[in-house]
Amino acid sequence: MISVFGSKVGKEELDEIKTSIDNQWLGMGPKTKLFEDKFSSRLNLKGFTMLNSGSNSLYLALRLLDLPKDSEVIVPSFTWISCATTIVLNGCKPVFCDVDLETQNMSHDTVVPLITKKTKAIMVVHYAGKPVEMAGIKEFGLPILEDAAHAVDSKIDGKYCGSIGEIGIYSFDGIKNIAIGEAGGLTSNQEEIIEKAKKLRYCGIGKSGFEASAAKKRWWEYDVFDFFIKLLPDDIHASIGLAQLAKLDENQRVRKHIWEIYQRELSKLEWLYTPKDAEENEQHSYFTYFIRLKNNKRDELAQYLYDKNIYTTLRYQPLHLIPIYNSTHIRLKNSEILNETGLNIPIHPNLKDEEIEYIIDCIKKFGKKNNL
Ligand SMILES: Cc1ncc(COP(=O)(O)O)c(C=O)c1O
Repeated sequence: MISVFGSKVGKEELDEIKTSIDNQWLGMGPKTKLFEDKFSSRLNLKGFTMLNSGSNSLYLALRLLDLPKDSEVIVPSFTWISCATTIVLNGCKPVFCDVDLETQNMSHDTVVPLITKKTKAIMVVHYAGKPVEMAGIKEFGLPILEDAAHAVDSKIDGKYCGSIGEIGIYSFDGIKNIAIGEAGGLTSNQEEIIEKAKKLRYCGIGKSGFEASAAKKRWWEYDVFDFFIKLLPDDIHASIGLAQLAKLDENQRVRKHIWEIYQRELSKLEWLYTPKDAEENEQHSYFTYFIRLKNNKRDELAQYLYDKNIYTTLRYQPLHLIPIYNSTHIRLKNSEILNETGLNIPIHPNLKDEEIEYIIDCIKKFGKKNNL
């Protein structure tokens, strides 16, 4: 089966892990610090706090925004569950906005009707790595939490996604552009927020006894800054991250290559829409390739490709339609259209040219078979 998402890992990752094993240091330590520094300088950030997942980064980011209880946070419906769940877990209310059909992104226009006195923040998601038009979102004057899980190599006007709002988060799960397994992290345009994240991530105690020993007499005692859970990264994951970071340019080149072939070949088909490219002032991350059908044959296409050993998926099932959020009564037209017509097809650095050709060929054959 050709997978829809994937990562490319190998000797470089193993070599990095080996040095941590040789040094008998598995937990958070020098590799984590090195990854944080290198990631931060690659994206020109004010700093970076590595954490153990993108979802947990969202959880901590919302905690750091310190919003009054019951605040409303606007979030696209067409996104991953943890975006809304972490809002609920921080005592606030997710208010789902629609997205633009062509970009799958929220916009100024989709947010406007939802602003109330209770709106205290906006969570932006750069879908597939196509940057959200941030100038329009900034006009609301509210704190912005940027979910750059898909957008680690995306830029607007020369600034990396994730570094534009108050807080930005990244995911490095096993299929992301930097694929570590389970990892993530956050940045901010304020250094004190990045430092506070470092203190909170270790049960709110800031430094381990070992780290604090240089400055303290009774080094086994610790200060507790705040009540918090443990979201610590570790040096094994950071080792993989270092190797992945070194490969990012090459992996992005491969993703862009696949994207361009799909754009060229699939745009010839009258019965589907290809995704939007980056604008002139933007850079895309090509995390996922999302097509939309102009007919009601999406499920049939997915099944046809599945039977040809090509795995596809839909990211995402709109959150307002999931009963737990108590929002099934609202209508978000575009998100619902995407739910019925959208399909993510394979793109990842392990995809071979002959597989890309095969996928395109199968999609074309499906069109012919159905007289589309
Ligand atoms: C848009 C978005 N936000 C957040 C996350 C959460 O990241 P993680 O899987 O590292 O928890 C994901 C994961 O797929 C995502 O796609």
